[in-house]
Amino acid sequence: MRIAVNTGGGDAPGLNAVIRAVVLSAINEGWEVYGIRDGFGGLLRDSEYNGEGVVPLTAEIVTGITHTGGTILGTSNRGNPMKWPQEQPDGTVIEIDRSDEIIEEFRKRGLDCLISIGGDGSLAIARRLRDRGLPVIGIPKTIDNDLGSTVTTFGFLTAVETATDAIDKLHTTAESHKRTFVVEVMGRHSGWIALFAGVAGTADVILIPEIPYSMEKVFEKVRWRYEVGREFAVVVVAEGAKEIGGKASFIEEAKPGQEARYGGLAEKIAHTIEENCDVETRSLVLGHLQRGGQPISYDRLLALRFGAAAIELVKRGDFGSMVSLDPPDVRSVPLGEALAKRKNVPVDGDVVRTARALGISFGD
Ligand code: F6P
Repeated sequence: MRIAVNTGGGDAPGLNAVIRAVVLSAINEGWEVYGIRDGFGGLLRDSEYNGEGVVPLTAEIVTGITHTGGTILGTSNRGNPMKWPQEQPDGTVIEIDRSDEIIEEFRKRGLDCLISIGGDGSLAIARRLRDRGLPVIGIPKTIDNDLGSTVTTFGFLTAVETATDAIDKLHTTAESHKRTFVVEVMGRHSGWIALFAGVAGTADVILIPEIPYSMEKVFEKVRWRYEVGREFAVVVVAEGAKEIGGKASFIEEAKPGQEARYGGLAEKIAHTIEENCDVETRSLVLGHLQRGGQPISYDRLLALRFGAAAIELVKRGDFGSMVSLDPPDVRSVPLGEALAKRKNVPVDGDVVRTARALGISFGD
């Protein structure tokens, strides 16, 4: 067996641990593993990599990487081979489908199957390659925790840890200066990071995409804090949160080969709070800090389990499926099922209810 592995989409702490587990488990079976660089880039543009767009992965190469952040293979969230941006003679850019090239390259190199580690975007690509006959297995990855059919993904709790640490640190300076802080965390469509870090870090307000908010309610909570003598407040916002009847805040519209970029929400909210509540307010965007650094032990273990489970699926010939966490086990689900529905925060779930019981406002 000659197994190919790639990492696609935004990076997440734990990717290297998955790669290590895939490589060592495959070697255990007497198989060979090849890493595709930068998502699908190494297959599509091998000449740009001096013929090293696809590299053999040995036990030596994956030594000492379980605890490291990032991905030794590189990744891209601009490299969808089915939506590849191509400039036209008139200067406009259109999206073209380059999946034929992927399949051709894959076969030319004598690869037998692809283990694709990615979020909804990359796994949708993997699924379409499967539909076109490529033996594919998916491993779910996202710090946003919004992939369906798996209880969680590696990287999510590491991101929550980073965000909670930041909220803890802001508390002390907020209190010293009697200020309100608005902290923006990642989460375009779902507010898992904001919710978990906000509750663990004792935020006063948490705004998430699943619960549209009213600024009046946010003002009420902030004013109340000062009135009762607490005189500081911490507001945690997911980047994709929306006001009731409003839309999300973008810094860049979608263009060929690139999704829209969210951002700017914390600054806007901080500004309106300062104007309406007459309290000094600052904003902070945690951004890509949440994707970096060492995975916490839970995420390392989950990543290693996912990698080893993917090789078990190869052994069973269970192609077109994705490994999934279904405690206490790691199982497999059809890729189509995993991609069918985004996993949003249940608005009446116990974490939201816990937050409300603690007096945390969702601005609703
Ligand atoms: O999907 C993960 C994610 O971290 C989102 O929460 C965030 O909006 C996006 O990636 C940012 O990606 P980029 O690397 O393009 O800035």
